[in-house]
Amino acid sequence: MRILLYRGDGDIAPWAADFAAALPHVEIVAWREGVPTPPCDYAAIWAPPPALLADLAHVKAIFLMGAGADALLKFGAALPDVPIVRLGDAGMGEQMADYVAGAVLRWFRRFDDYERQARAGSWQPLPPRRKEDFSVGVLGLGKLGVPVLRTLRQLGFPVRGWSRTPKDLPNVACFAGLDALDDFLAGTRVLVCMLPLTPETTHLLDRARLSRLPQGAYLVNVARGGLVAEPDLLALIREGHVAGAMLDVFRNEPLPAPHPFWNEPRIAITPHVAAVTLRTQAVQQIVAKIALLERGEPVADVIDRERGY
Ligand code: NAP
Ligand code: GLV
Repeated sequence: MRILLYRGDGDIAPWAADFAAALPHVEIVAWREGVPTPPCDYAAIWAPPPALLADLAHVKAIFLMGAGADALLKFGAALPDVPIVRLGDAGMGEQMADYVAGAVLRWFRRFDDYERQARAGSWQPLPPRRKEDFSVGVLGLGKLGVPVLRTLRQLGFPVRGWSRTPKDLPNVACFAGLDALDDFLAGTRVLVCMLPLTPETTHLLDRARLSRLPQGAYLVNVARGGLVAEPDLLALIREGHVAGAMLDVFRNEPLPAPHPFWNEPRIAITPHVAAVTLRTQAVQQIVAKIALLERGEPVADVIDRERGY
């Protein structure tokens, strides 16, 4: 058996070593542009260039070294008709929960206001906030959205979630479908975006939708930059409707130097690190799924190309 490996960030040697250790009888082929590739049985890839697609012709399945499939699905009909299998959690849910809890607690305890005051040398206690006024709404109730909600609920915040299909989660106010989105937004003080980027979700958070949030709401985007209309968010922050945002993902990454987000003090920026792929867990998960496929058994986390996630 041969497994083709590729990562857009070039960090391939440790992955090749881990796959070789887990599958000693398998040949690991690190893909390089311009170098002939032998036919491979499986591919484990992240952010591939178009030139790689021809070398997927013989694979039985494509494994993604991450959760989102948008960077592969954009190739559409050029992809072979084989299962595309993403990572399911693999240690990312806990990272997402930590990241979002940090953002929510920072605003709830007004650390952002106190940082501003401290820079101005101002000692001024501010009125405390009540958790019952600080409901957290998570868009996307999947592998990563659910652990985020669980953590926020354990911290005592009222939580609500929105998904495409109806859900019933304990102590979570659940909303489903576009018809319910305005009601969901109207009761959300901190909006957390955990949706995949698909044709249906692109630019979902535009001026009209963000305006449905109550005055003084906050936004955390840890999903994909394309979900948010960036100029609309900036305008609503400058107008004071949105009080602040913590953004990990952007339409263009790295966020370009002249982008106005860099100079907006109410926007906190991180470089797409909310939940990084943990190599050991990812390799274990992919190796276990290859074993299932080899036995003719079904695997979890197969992308539905029609839905786009
Ligand atoms: P997932 O398990 O596939 O869950 C996706 C959720 O979104 C599901 O609840 C789904 O609804 C909902 N959804 C999809 N389309 C929708 C629509 N049109 N309307 C309403 N709800 C919709 O995905 P995941 O593993 O939680 O990952 C979510 C995303 O996080 C990934 O796609 C990726 O873009 C992003 N991510 C970011 C980072 C980072 O470091 N920033 C790291 C990992 C992942 P149903 O339940 O009804 O299907
Ligand atoms: C990272 O953004 C991922 O989708 O895994």
